[in-house]
Amino acid sequence: MTDLAIYPLSEEHRMLRDAARDFAINEITPIAAAFDESGEFPHETIRKMGAMGFMGIEVPEEYGGAGMDALAYVLALEEISKADASHGVIMSVNNSLYCHGILKFGTEAQKKKFVTPVASGKAIGAYSLTEPMSGSDAGTMKSRAVRQGDFYVLNGRKSWVTSGPVADYLVVFMMTDPEKKHKGISAFLVEGNTPGLKRGKKEPKLGIRASATSELIFDDCRIPAENLLGAEGEGFKIAMTVLDAGRIGIAAQALGIAEAAYEAARGYAAQREAFGQPIGAFQGTGFKIADMKTRIEAARLLTYNAALKKERSKTTGERFTQEAAMAKLFASETAMYVTHAAVQIHGGMGYSKELPVERYFRDAKITEIYEGTSEIQRLVISRAELGLK
Ligand code: CAA
Repeated sequence: MTDLAIYPLSEEHRMLRDAARDFAINEITPIAAAFDESGEFPHETIRKMGAMGFMGIEVPEEYGGAGMDALAYVLALEEISKADASHGVIMSVNNSLYCHGILKFGTEAQKKKFVTPVASGKAIGAYSLTEPMSGSDAGTMKSRAVRQGDFYVLNGRKSWVTSGPVADYLVVFMMTDPEKKHKGISAFLVEGNTPGLKRGKKEPKLGIRASATSELIFDDCRIPAENLLGAEGEGFKIAMTVLDAGRIGIAAQALGIAEAAYEAARGYAAQREAFGQPIGAFQGTGFKIADMKTRIEAARLLTYNAALKKERSKTTGERFTQEAAMAKLFASETAMYVTHAAVQIHGGMGYSKELPVERYFRDAKITEIYEGTSEIQRLVISRAELGLK
């Protein structure tokens, strides 16, 4: 990895990055192919990642986290995702979609109860926004939460929930006042074992197969009114704010996938010979290597910049929506470009399950879809540029 002159890493950052890299190489790389094949959730390595502090990197130590900054989070996530994108997304959702939102909008009691077990990696957190008929247009959800005395009663069907089948705690978005459209959405903290919460079908997926994704069915699920996160009607704003952080995580995940594919392709291009010379000596391959490397460096700059802006926002309160969208857009499309080229450079071996290159290719695709498709990122970026919202 190139050292980026404009981001001199501190000693603490380097130590964390190296610890994540060692862990990824020793603990995750050896099992990644088998878990991809079986589609089993990697409970044991995730628990170990919790013990290393990776499941709540930016969470203050008083709530079970590692108390580090946004750049540290991205550096560690990149290394974990380089070994396996499934571990990467489980870590990303835990840190940013789950812990970040509760830290930002939760009460002291909510932080203690709902963040501490998840940030320490003893429990798994999930974020549930999407519904079967409400994906990109997130403000049109149908699920209802109705206040009854000291409780809210939740009803509806949510879909595409990362870690849905295994989550111990969830942030869930539902309509409390449908007439107000997106201003009638509220956010709730739900314990996974609450009666009335059922896990729906686990999705069979193209990639990130070791991360579990499912529907959630809420059937008269009663939760204490004190589990409302933020105020009634504030849910859409919370969902969007949290996705800004989540998108930086997905950018880091995409960067890790791209790096893994790039390193494999570079090694192969230097060593595999055809027509009397290494295939990298042919411009058709060498120029691919140049473009892969350049795009990865550009994706890294955007991702680290978004992380630094997120860190600054902790004191200034400024939004980093556009930076996060640009990082996610560019890094995910880079992951697709690089993994596609890596398969091509490997020829038949790139298509074989004997090498991880085909897995990188399958895993990369989701980064252009979840936490806002590339089209949604372009919408967010262009609206900000044109002053349309
Ligand atoms: N931060 C804070 N507030 C925001 C915001 C942000 N990033 N983006 C929008 N808002 C606010 C706006 O200021 C506006 O507030 P007011 O009503 O007070 O004026 C309000 O939210 C509505 O904003 P818009 O009018 O822009 O809303 P819209 O309906 O046009 O939608 C959108 C905007 C960007 C398209 C949004 O719907 C979006 O991001 N969609 C994609 C959803 C998504 O990413 N889903 C993925 C779900 S998670 C997942 O993938 C699964 C998983 O487990 C990993």
